[in-house]
Amino acid sequence: MLKALAMAHSCLEEIIKPNDIVVDATMGNGYDTLFLSNLTDNIFAFDVQNEAIEATEKRLSFAGKNVIKISDFENEKLLTENPSVKLILDGHENVRKYVKKPIKAAIFNLGYLPKADKTVITKPDTTLTALSSLTELLVTGGRIALMIYYGHEGGEKEKNAVIHWVSTLNQKTWDVFTYGPLNQVHTPPILVILEKK
Ligand SMILES: C[S@@+](CC[C@H](N)C(=O)[O-])C[C@H]1O[C@@H](n2cnc3c(N)ncnc32)[C@H](O)[C@@H]1O
Repeated sequence: MLKALAMAHSCLEEIIKPNDIVVDATMGNGYDTLFLSNLTDNIFAFDVQNEAIEATEKRLSFAGKNVIKISDFENEKLLTENPSVKLILDGHENVRKYVKKPIKAAIFNLGYLPKADKTVITKPDTTLTALSSLTELLVTGGRIALMIYYGHEGGEKEKNAVIHWVSTLNQKTWDVFTYGPLNQVHTPPILVILEKK
C-alpha cells in the first residue's frame, strides 16, 4: 500500500513534464524539491527558515542541480533566469511576488521542519493565502498536493481550515480527493490532492 507521501509524488509525477513550472511551497530539508527537480528544471521553492534554504541547497547541489538562492526581492532579475531551482527565503503567501507565469503543480508539506525549531509551523491564514494564489496560477490539468501533518499543536486547526477551504471549490472545475490511513493510533499525515479540470 502506498503511504500518503508516495501517493502525492505519484500524482505529481504523472503530470509534470520537463520545463513545466512547479512550486514547492514548503521546502524544509529539500526532499520534495529534489523529487521535483528530477522531473523539471523550473522550480520555485519557498521557506521562511534559512536552515531550510541551506539544507536544500546542499541536497540539490550534491545531486548536480543548478540552484539559485533568492533572499531579497532586489534580485528580481534572477527570477527570470533560465530554468533553475530557485530557493526563495520568503513565505509561500507571497508566491505572487515571484511566480508570474502559470504553474503545472505545487506541493505543500504542512507542519514544522523536523529537528529544527518546532514553533515555526505553517499557519492556516498564510497556507490559505498561498493556496488561493496557487489555485489561480494552476493550468488546466494541473495538480496541487497537500501533505497535512497535524499531530502538533495548531496542526488540527490548520487541517480543518484546509479541508474546509478545498471542500468549497466548485466541483465543475475542481477534483478534490483525500488519501490517508483511518485505523492508526497516532496522527499520520493525510494527503489532499486537487486537480483543475
Ligand atoms: C514539514 S516541513 C517541510 C518538509 C519538506 N517538504 C521536506 O521535504 O523536507 C514544513 C516547512 O514549512 C516551513 N514554513 C513555515 N511557514 C511557512 C511559510 N509561510 N511559507 C513557506 N514555508 C513555511 C517551515 O519552515 C518548514 O521548513
